[in-house]
Amino acid sequence: MLQVARARPWRPLCAQSIQARRRYVHAPRQRTVTVLGETYPTDDYTNLPPTIAELLERRLHVTPPHPLNTIRKLIASHFEGFKSYDDLPAVVTPALNFDSLGFPPDHPGRARGQSYYINRGIMLRTHTSAHEVDIYRQTPRSGGWLCTADVYRRDEIDRSHYPAFHQTEGARLVNVADMDKLKAENEELRRGIKASRIIMEDCPDFDAITNPLQASHLPETVLPMAQNLKLRITTLFMSIFPPSTTPLHVRWTPDIFPWTSPSFQLEVRYRDAWLELLGCGIILDDTIARGGHNPAEERSWAFGMGIERIAMPLFGVPDIRLFWSKDERFWKQFKDGQVSKFQEFSKYPPVERDIAFWLPVGMAKPHAASHAAGGEVGGWEENDLWDIIREVGGDLVEDVKIFDDFWNEAKGRRSLAIRITFRSMERSLERAEVNEITDEITAKLTARLAVEIR
Ligand code: PHE
Repeated sequence: MLQVARARPWRPLCAQSIQARRRYVHAPRQRTVTVLGETYPTDDYTNLPPTIAELLERRLHVTPPHPLNTIRKLIASHFEGFKSYDDLPAVVTPALNFDSLGFPPDHPGRARGQSYYINRGIMLRTHTSAHEVDIYRQTPRSGGWLCTADVYRRDEIDRSHYPAFHQTEGARLVNVADMDKLKAENEELRRGIKASRIIMEDCPDFDAITNPLQASHLPETVLPMAQNLKLRITTLFMSIFPPSTTPLHVRWTPDIFPWTSPSFQLEVRYRDAWLELLGCGIILDDTIARGGHNPAEERSWAFGMGIERIAMPLFGVPDIRLFWSKDERFWKQFKDGQVSKFQEFSKYPPVERDIAFWLPVGMAKPHAASHAAGGEVGGWEENDLWDIIREVGGDLVEDVKIFDDFWNEAKGRRSLAIRITFRSMERSLERAEVNEITDEITAKLTARLAVEIR
């Protein structure tokens, strides 16, 4: 989920497939789109479907008694004295979302296949880090801040992925002269963790080659910061997850982000799987300076975490679509500021439909490695497929899987077969209704992606 900053396998599109996309993917194009009451001109980069644009109005993370609002407040109560920014609009420039953080010009996160663009100059933020530089500018020396917001990424469809989700970003500036104080704070935090039942698997605080300290940083001004970052986050999870018979098990691993070094990620063990919860690290001097601070004097750590990932296990919410439900049987179960177990109100049966089709002639052969990573494969953007299915089926679509994918040498064409699982959270679906939706999806795939149904 927290993947935007990570390098993904990336292959340039062949000229032929670019033409195919230009012709089919975004016809018919509106000349303007309206987002949060503001009207913007569209261009050849526009890929924001109305169904996604509507989500910006929801403001779930500041609407009691929504669980995401409760999580936001629980996190804030753990970071005393940090200033909160919870109202920053999701419409940003690529300069803010990427350039201000030093993303290279060819970073895969910038691709239209990965992110939602209103036009070439305006997009939906893909992470709360888009606001780091601006917020640092408003933060006094040795200050701390939090920012919770809705973020948007084009993504696959299943019970734990949704193209909109929420993140809480947090950061703390510490003066290099205050490292002894920080070490004492770290000792105190460590004692708290020892006394608790949490299992924390640590990783080295840096690696000279793969996760280095910045050239201008002395270890004595970074290592206490890296420790403080990990300890503050571990104690956050200790305080959020109630002590239970099975102790909470978290592990730190090294990571890579364009604006932090060293960098880490945190995973939590939940239902026999490791769930990626957050990315974090020590902010690069360049970013500190862009944020109006003197990198020779101030160090900073920052983290960004997906809060649905915390709310799902904590509140027992089994499907990420439920957070967007308008059904009062969802809303009425929660009380502001309180963690309670969600009682599932729907076990309505799923309905499956398969669609098999040939991709247009000229689409490149599937490439196993890049296919596994998702994204753009030989000019075929899987995310275009997911968006069309969501645009027509909305939240009735629970899951979509490609279950067959082959190359026909004689035809020189690639064939895909997808299985769509429809399920309503609120009622039983009629067969006729599902057939109608499937027909409309098929028609749109044919018209926009120039596929040929088999
Ligand atoms: N923005 C990163 C993500 O969404 C997380 C992050 C935040 C990493 C702050 C480093 C510092 O994956």
